[in-house]
Amino acid sequence: MKERILSCIVVVYLLGFVIFGLSGCSVLSKKPDTEVAANTAYYVCSGCHGLENVRVNFMTPNIMGQKKGYLVATLRDYRDHKRIEPLMNGAVANLSDQEIENLAAYYAKAQGMRDER
Ligand code: HEC
Repeated sequence: MKERILSCIVVVYLLGFVIFGLSGCSVLSKKPDTEVAANTAYYVCSGCHGLENVRVNFMTPNIMGQKKGYLVATLRDYRDHKRIEPLMNGAVANLSDQEIENLAAYYAKAQGMRDER
């Protein structure tokens, strides 16, 4: 009997860890798509494409304010290696269709991202 109570306490104790652990993880506290896209744009894309709608070097085109349809098609082509440019192929390799959609929507509206994130 004593052992049963003891193992009950252990189970409840462990469950507590699982529940509190999960509540802090991204599966349960999902950030809105727009925020995720803005963060990706800021932390991943802006490294090469810049923070404002100004061309930062001779290689990287301006993409802020570009049409959403064009962005979706282009990003998919890079991801699926239909358009080859190693820097871009790498940058979008792991994006899902939905993430590409969200990023395209973000960039179609963006004019600059210093304060938008
Ligand atoms: C390592 C640098 C680098 C990173 C990071 C990067 N890009 Fe690029 N991007 C480039 C270069 C270089 C080109 C031009 C490639 C070409 O000529 O095909 C380009 C081209 C593009 C184009 C095509 C523009 C056009 O006019 O056809 C789009 C759209 C684009 N990038 C979006 C993104 C997005 C969105 C991200 C973030 C997920 C991103 N890029 C991250 C370097 C980068």
